[in-house]
Amino acid sequence: MEKDLLFYNEYEQFYLMARKSEVFRLFCEKAFGMDFSQDGFSDISQTDRILQYIPKNEKAYILDIGCGNGKMLGYLQEKTNCFIHGFDYSKNAIETAKELFSIDSEFIQGCIGEVDYSEEMFDVIISMDTMYFAPDMSDFVDQIMKWLKKDGVFFVCYQEGDVMPKTENVNTTVFAKTLLDKKIDFDSIDITRETYDMLLHKRVIANLFEKEFAEEGNIDWFNMLIGQTEYANRPYEEFAKVMSRYIYIVRKERRC
Ligand SMILES: C[S@@+](CC[C@H](N)C(=O)[O-])C[C@H]1O[C@@H](n2cnc3c(N)ncnc32)[C@H](O)[C@@H]1O
Repeated sequence: MEKDLLFYNEYEQFYLMARKSEVFRLFCEKAFGMDFSQDGFSDISQTDRILQYIPKNEKAYILDIGCGNGKMLGYLQEKTNCFIHGFDYSKNAIETAKELFSIDSEFIQGCIGEVDYSEEMFDVIISMDTMYFAPDMSDFVDQIMKWLKKDGVFFVCYQEGDVMPKTENVNTTVFAKTLLDKKIDFDSIDITRETYDMLLHKRVIANLFEKEFAEEGNIDWFNMLIGQTEYANRPYEEFAKVMSRYIYIVRKERRC
């Protein structure tokens, strides 16, 4: 695996910490409503929105792009009994995923743009804060549309203001423009306000755990959590000028 990939070493360290830290597990439960070892922003309300798209009358196949240690997939499997597939470039994350979720599952260590699946394999594909890492957004969208079944759904949580620069609105992000260029129809939900509220909550919870993080020797990770909430430490109107968060729902059958 290329060690000079964006954030590669940081994510290896992050998933090592997530595997060992009981405090981080408790923090995630309290901050996000469920521990998915989140690096950031996907709380339980965003994850629960995925459930409605998973077919209930058959065994569904779900793929998570940048699945981390698989905990979000594990939750979706617990709720719907689906087959879970995930890939991520982090060795530590994929090792943990394989240990935690060994039934009806497949986890691959690999990079966006390199990992491939069969045509029309998945009912639902999710990308929670991972489209930013595609070396070529257009090629990657084509690949995802190929992997989806004819009536499949691609569910994306996408943020601007940190990895991606802030653009005007939900139709002007790099991801949306890629879909529009390809004449792929989508629905979208602006969740900037709820993300602001969630970040403020995350900041409060992180502060409650400062002493425990320090006692575990994980004060650097506490500082990272506080840093991730810094943007929200201002009035909402100012926050919304520099950050936005959207959910995109792409249905393959609605390709124009
Ligand atoms: C912002 S985190 C999101 C993780 C998880 N989906 C969540 O919502 O908590 C980005 C994830 O993508 C993975 N990742 C980053 N760049 C990648 C790449 N080029 N190929 C595969 N995985 C990548 C990271 O290891 C990390 O797990």
